[in-house]
Amino acid sequence: MPSIGRLNYLEFLPSPSAAARPRGALVLLHAFPLNARMWEPQRVLADAGWRVIVPQFRGMDGGERVQPVTSIDDFAGDVIDLVDALHIEDAVFCGLSMGGYVAFAIFRHAPRYLRALVLADTRPQADSPEGIAGRKKMLALLREKGAAAVPIVADEMLPKLLGATTMRERPDVVERVRSLILANSGEAIAGAVTAMMTREDSTPSLSTIHCPTLIIVGAEDTLTAPSASEDMQRQIPGSELVVVPAAGHLSNLEQPDAFNAAVSRFLEHKV
Ligand code: MLT
Repeated sequence: MPSIGRLNYLEFLPSPSAAARPRGALVLLHAFPLNARMWEPQRVLADAGWRVIVPQFRGMDGGERVQPVTSIDDFAGDVIDLVDALHIEDAVFCGLSMGGYVAFAIFRHAPRYLRALVLADTRPQADSPEGIAGRKKMLALLREKGAAAVPIVADEMLPKLLGATTMRERPDVVERVRSLILANSGEAIAGAVTAMMTREDSTPSLSTIHCPTLIIVGAEDTLTAPSASEDMQRQIPGSELVVVPAAGHLSNLEQPDAFNAAVSRFLEHKV
C-alpha cells in the first residue's frame, strides 16, 4: 500500500477499457474496526472518471508501528494532509460509520475541501452515556488481553456490523469482515475506540451543510438505524436518502451493487 507522511492509502484506478472523462476526486473513509480494504467493492467507481483515494486511518491494519490516533479530529487532519500531498483541491468525501464521523470533522474544520458528501450508516451525535460505557468495556478488554482481545472483538462486532440477511446467507462476507478486523492490532483498535468516544456532537452543524449530500443506510442496520438517517436527512438541506435492502451496517460490502448504483447516480446527477 502506498504511503504519504503518516498515512497509508489505496488508489483505485479505472479498468483499461474505461474511457470516462476525469470527474474529480472521491475519498472513501472506512469504518471501525476495519481498514481501507473494506472499500474494494467500490473499485468500479473509478471507471466513471473518479480518482478514488482510500486512506487507511493511522495505526489500522498492523502496518508499521505508528502511534495510533486517539481523536477523530486527528484522523481528519491526516486525511486533509494526504489530500494536500496528492494536490487534490476538493473532493467528494464518502464516510461509512466511523468514516462518517471523520467526514463530519472535515466539514467542521476544513469545509472548503468538500465538494459533496456521502454519509453511509453513520450518525452526527456524540456517544450516549450507555455508548461510552460499552466503549470502556471494550477498552478494558483490550488492556487486559492485548492481542488476544482482537478475535473476541471480532466475534462481538460481527453480528452488529452485518445485517441478519448477510449473517444468515453470506458466510463469505462474514469471513471477509472477520479477516479485516483481525488485521488490526489491539492498540489500533483501542486508539479508534478512544477517538470515537471523545468525538464532538456534529448535530448543530447539520443545517449548515450546503454541499450536495447523499445519505445511505442499510435497511437492517441496527447500529445506526434507518430512522436516524431519516432524521439526519431532515436536518441537512437538500440531502437525499437511499435505504439499501437486505444490508446491515456495512452496506457497501453487503450489497455493493445497490450501494454503488446509489453513489453513481448521485455523482452523475448531483455533483
Ligand atoms: C463503525 O462501524 O465505524 C462503528 O460501528 C462506529 C461506532 O462504533 O460508533
